[in-house]
Amino acid sequence: MNTLNHVAIIMDGNGRWAKKNSLPRSAGHYKGVEVLRNITIYANRLGIKALTVYAFSTENWKRSAEEVNYIMSLPKIFFSSYIKELMDNNVKINIIGDRERIPAETMKVINDAIEETSRNTGLVLSFAFNYGSRDEIVRACKKYAQDYKEGKVEDLDEESFKSYLYTNDLPEVDLLIRTAGELRVSNFLLYQIAYSEFVVTDTLWPDFTNETLDYCIEQYQGRKRSFGGRDETKNN
Ligand code: IPE
Ligand code: IPE
Ligand code: MG
Repeated sequence: MNTLNHVAIIMDGNGRWAKKNSLPRSAGHYKGVEVLRNITIYANRLGIKALTVYAFSTENWKRSAEEVNYIMSLPKIFFSSYIKELMDNNVKINIIGDRERIPAETMKVINDAIEETSRNTGLVLSFAFNYGSRDEIVRACKKYAQDYKEGKVEDLDEESFKSYLYTNDLPEVDLLIRTAGELRVSNFLLYQIAYSEFVVTDTLWPDFTNETLDYCIEQYQGRKRSFGGRDETKNN
């Protein structure tokens, strides 16, 4: 069995789901929020320690104001509906990304949820919200340069570099799932997925169920992870 501490998901296909059901794109995002609730509870039940979900990228600002505004209202919908359940399930909320550009009222709702769940010890649900990996890496470099100039740090190595990333406190990403079939990472966790296993499913995010997660984990468990090494006991 491969250990499975951290699952990351690129939740894609909300728009296609809406189109398939002759609904506005917002309905796809709304259904996606419900699915996220289910998957969070289920992943926690499976003993997964960290779930990181791509909810809004630094490139998603290119969408219509109507769609962006709707997505910015989703944290309120998510937390007002599910905070009690998240508390009951010991889930801890976290956010990764550039908080500066997120509207103040959205940030308030997120900060309240982070504060309320801060003492929980179960699964850590991290929202990648206004997240872009290139942005994250550039920020990390700038912060390190500043710390170096101020004499706070010495040399940089892979381990210390990690502490400058948003994912500082999270375990290594074991499994990266992308829904809706696209074979790309779209600026998500570029540094962190160096040795993650990828599973791409054609299932659209709003159609994603516990069984789809089971399928992804089954795929993951079938993989032989060697991290660049060789298994000397097998002739491979
Ligand atoms: C993912 O679904 C959600 C966000 C990117 C915010 P999309 O909205 O990208 O759905 P498709 O790709 O158009 O189907
Ligand atoms: C990736 O999906 C971002 C999120 C899921 C939040 P996109 O739909 O934005 O990615 P592309 O445009 O297909 O690469
Ligand atoms: Mg998409």
